[in-house]
Amino acid sequence: MVSIIVISCLAKNNIIGKNNDIPWRLQADFDHFKKQTMGHPCIMGDRTYLSLPKNARPLPGRENIVLTFDKEFKAPGTTIFYSFEDALDYVKDKEKAFICGGASIYKIGLKVADTLELTRIHKDFEGDTYFPEINFDEWELVNHEEHEDNEHGPYSFMTYKRKKK
Ligand SMILES: NC(=O)c1ccc[n+]([C@@H]2O[C@H](COP(=O)([O-])OP(=O)(O)OC[C@H]3O[C@@H](n4cnc5c(N)ncnc54)[C@H](OP(=O)(O)O)[C@@H]3O)[C@@H](O)[C@H]2O)c1
Repeated sequence: MVSIIVISCLAKNNIIGKNNDIPWRLQADFDHFKKQTMGHPCIMGDRTYLSLPKNARPLPGRENIVLTFDKEFKAPGTTIFYSFEDALDYVKDKEKAFICGGASIYKIGLKVADTLELTRIHKDFEGDTYFPEINFDEWELVNHEEHEDNEHGPYSFMTYKRKKK
């Protein structure tokens, strides 16, 4: 059965985006995202897809699955779906699939994911897009690494698994 993994980088105040971009440049997190997702399908909203730099979209080496309600939306080299359920059905026989944002896709992805890969930057950022509320009672922290960045200070890579009911 496919493992559904929500992957995101969040500020202390849960900001994930500003003006359809990520409000920081944390190379270690980009490297972490690449390492985690390489070779696996990446599901994202159309706004997140369009926020990727032109030379980095579609994300190379990964099937980019873009969700949109816009039947005219075109993104060459990607697989487009008009519902989250159809995207999930499409990846059901894969080993893993990553939910790559933004906020609206995280919200529905959190309901079905078995794993969270969260990078936490331990300071607040200004922005307009927040990660949805997480009920941490449902999740068990299974890995936690502390790091330090010259520009942004301390940050953590945290892996959570959904608790068995
Ligand atoms: N920090 C991080 O790790 C991270 C990761 C990813 C994104 N971000 C940031 O998040 C922001 C973008 O997030 P967002 O929430 O505004 O946009 P988004 O989630 O990327 O895309 C939203 C769009 O997805 C489509 N959509 C949503 N639910 C759908 C469904 N069930 N079926 C089909 N299509 C669906 C809709 O498309 P239409 O209505 O347009 O048709 C909706 O407008 C940006 O600032 C980006 O940089 C941050």
